[in-house]
Amino acid sequence: MGNSWDLLLRRARIATLTEADDALLGAELGAEHGDAAIAVAGGHIKWIGKDSALPAGASAVREIDCEGAWLTPGLIDCHTHVVYGGNRSHEFERRLEGISYEQIARDGGGIRSTVKATRDASVEQLVDQSAPRLARMRAEGLTTVEIKSGYGLDLASERRMLRAAQWLAESQHVSVRTSFLGAHAVPEEYAGQPDAFIDHLIEDVLPVLADEGLIDAVDAFCETIAFTTEQVDRLFVAAGKYGLPVKLHAEQLSDQGGAALVAKHQGLSADHLEYLSQSGVEAMAKAGTVAVLLPGAFYFLRETQRPPIAALRQAGVPMAVATDCNPGSSPLTSPLLAMNLACVCFGLTAAEALAGMTREAARALGLDDRGTLAVGQRADLALWNVDRPAELAYGMGHNPLALRVFQGVVEGPMVDRQHAVEDSGDPVLSPRL
Ligand code: NIG
Ligand code: FE
Repeated sequence: MGNSWDLLLRRARIATLTEADDALLGAELGAEHGDAAIAVAGGHIKWIGKDSALPAGASAVREIDCEGAWLTPGLIDCHTHVVYGGNRSHEFERRLEGISYEQIARDGGGIRSTVKATRDASVEQLVDQSAPRLARMRAEGLTTVEIKSGYGLDLASERRMLRAAQWLAESQHVSVRTSFLGAHAVPEEYAGQPDAFIDHLIEDVLPVLADEGLIDAVDAFCETIAFTTEQVDRLFVAAGKYGLPVKLHAEQLSDQGGAALVAKHQGLSADHLEYLSQSGVEAMAKAGTVAVLLPGAFYFLRETQRPPIAALRQAGVPMAVATDCNPGSSPLTSPLLAMNLACVCFGLTAAEALAGMTREAARALGLDDRGTLAVGQRADLALWNVDRPAELAYGMGHNPLALRVFQGVVEGPMVDRQHAVEDSGDPVLSPRL
């Protein structure tokens, strides 16, 4: 029938992550024989099914023999602060001496020390410092990343962070969603006046950045060392005026009722959640707000209280997993290790961790065009040299990525070898060459 596709991946095993099946991993196409295929054109999935059922006469500009390797959606990291200046290794050393994260913040360090370094950096310097972090994530099959502002805390510096995030999308071939986290900490110039700072964000900063098209969502830090629910509520009302969805750093160090607040605003996600109450769980379930679990911060801060995973499961709250990559509480640039930590520290299953870094992460960003493999979805894929998808959450410091496909364009560890294959006239590319 003369199909002409840009790309055809053959002889794969496929974890679709769709909810079509009851099994959490969705239809594991060709799981036993490695006989599934996916065809891509125009950056989207056009056909998916058994290799043996490919339409007669189907052809593609490039065909790849996956040799039974596993295909999943490209990984999606739905909570990062990957753009920032400097680092906080000196504070890490203080914490090793027994000083707490909160105490360091109260002493004027913490977020505020990264604010100093970030305010001093140009957009180019922010891009240069952040690119290697993002490159490490991309090397593990990441295709979409959320990036927050929140280390500028004034209009010009927040704008530079958000511009750097957009530049990184271009240079790193990743899809970037930006969140405005102006309410991350009270900056020095507003010391002791958090309400006045929130007013300033609402009146002078948010409207400008929203108008400049730099923001996809509005986030805040609701905590004793940051902002109250009343202050965050005012900011969220303002976000609604610009049609921006909201999300929140909630119940990370104490129960402030932040999850219920974000649910009240029909928010996309409540993130961290170690101190989440049962009423918070119920509010999230009712609103369809995603629980974003950040085990990197739990581990790095040596937290002992775990998020109420059983209650979230029981209530049917979708659970995403993210790195929370940031210089203070989670200097983590490995989505795969975040999946491992979610299993080991929080008790997720390996399948829940994979869904948390794909389908549920897309949901946490309000995106329905990615995170699963189905006809019509973006062709953002990862091909893995593993025998079972559970190996993705099992390994620590192990990266089994064979290929990454971003909007239909193939990249990966073997892309250089691909040219050698093409020069030899063999059109079939094997990830194990
Ligand atoms: O997600 N909780 C607030 N914000 C970050 C930490 C930021 C920092 O310490 O620089 C977080 O953990
Ligand atoms: Fe965070």
